Amino acid sequence: MNQSNKDFIHIKAPKNWINDPNGFIYYKGKYHMFYQHFPYEPSWGTMHWGHATSTDLVTWQHEGIALYPSKSYDANGVFSGNAIIIEDKLYLYYTGIKYIEAEPSNIHLPLNYNFEACQALLISEDGEHFDNINGKTCVIPVSDDDKRMSIADTRDPKVWEKGGRYYMALGSTEKTDTGRRVGKIIFLQSKDGFSWSYLSDAKSSEFGEIFECPDLFDIDGQTIMFCAAVGYLKDGFPDSNQEIYKFVSFDEETGRLTYDKESFYIDYGFDLYATQTTLDEDNNRVMYAWMRMPVPVACEDSSSMWSGIMTMPRVIKLKKDESGAKLVFAPHKKVDNLFHTRITSHELPFNLCINGTSDSHYIDITMADSKNDFKLSLDVEDGCVIDIGGYIIKIHDGFVMADRSALYPKGNYRMEFSTPKIEGDIHLDIYLSRYMIETFVNSGEYVLSHVVYDFFRDR
Ligand code: FRU
Repeated sequence: MNQSNKDFIHIKAPKNWINDPNGFIYYKGKYHMFYQHFPYEPSWGTMHWGHATSTDLVTWQHEGIALYPSKSYDANGVFSGNAIIIEDKLYLYYTGIKYIEAEPSNIHLPLNYNFEACQALLISEDGEHFDNINGKTCVIPVSDDDKRMSIADTRDPKVWEKGGRYYMALGSTEKTDTGRRVGKIIFLQSKDGFSWSYLSDAKSSEFGEIFECPDLFDIDGQTIMFCAAVGYLKDGFPDSNQEIYKFVSFDEETGRLTYDKESFYIDYGFDLYATQTTLDEDNNRVMYAWMRMPVPVACEDSSSMWSGIMTMPRVIKLKKDESGAKLVFAPHKKVDNLFHTRITSHELPFNLCINGTSDSHYIDITMADSKNDFKLSLDVEDGCVIDIGGYIIKIHDGFVMADRSALYPKGNYRMEFSTPKIEGDIHLDIYLSRYMIETFVNSGEYVLSHVVYDFFRDR
């Protein structure tokens, strides 16, 4: 038996490796999610776009590989990008990667970080067929000016339409005079989605060393920019790349980007990276992201391994109060509505202890139909300690803290986490699945999401 080709709530690698979500869109009555995929090993390698579809953002059907290397300009990888609909066709923008030389001992990696990036497009007539031979066009060739547009590190097109014109944001980097690399976002414009001209750029160390996976969108008239910033967290652990957002304004006419000094983390669990957002059927801005995993997991039939899982869908809302504007990330209703079967703590596949007792009278425990996904809802006070099968959540002095050390491989990994200080009441909604714990504080004011291992007792 193969690993199931369906996923429930969380999209994960069907087998082997996945990373970023790509091309997330609602098209012809279905949600389409593509993802960075290396189909041969549970580790990063020559990138393909895997494809999954869903009618409800809950059950995902894996559809196999949609985009694969087929041109000299994408021979070594089909990197991340997004999707838009033009005249009822699906336009998939991505970055084509070509190695100048491959690593002899593993041709799926470049030798000496020496590779070229261009921006390409595959048009699908229906979201089911992807003609990798005749349907691709390289729309932005490899840069001939490394300073203006990095030859290797310009990638992850985010294309949108406004007022009959198309705009593209690209993540990039630039070497400063001191030899330091700073993240850079590049904007281009186009009349037809094929022929692009440079509009502007903005660079800053606030965007890390390389700006990856840019996203810009409006909520209630406010423009928001997502940035996957390489080398952002300098605390000595791996996964220093972190995803942040900023409130910005962007003038499509002039290409001028202005942004607030302050940046915010999208998730305080620090496993999350490389978000993709789109509008759902009801015009909510929905987000998915890749959750990084330090070690792969055996597939159900033990014949192979898988690595890489995505968050549950989260709806992004703008909240304004006396303390200013903030984004709130709440579970999508279609997922939240699944948790309707009330159960007791004894029916959970792990031990649950609150303040040292397993008496759960003041906690709401619900289970989804999968019988493998649970939700705990409770109000908490200072000093409260929740032990969820070894995953510890502690409320201390207004901070919500988490410790996953009992459920994570030993090694140089982040184990302890905290939200910023919270004034006033604290309510937690904790979603538990076999490989992930997602804690929403005060309906998504802060989110702490973690990959965990060996969590459920065998059911
Ligand atoms: C982010 C990223 C992207 C790139 C892709 C390659 O995780 O590095 O910038 O397109 O992954 O797999």
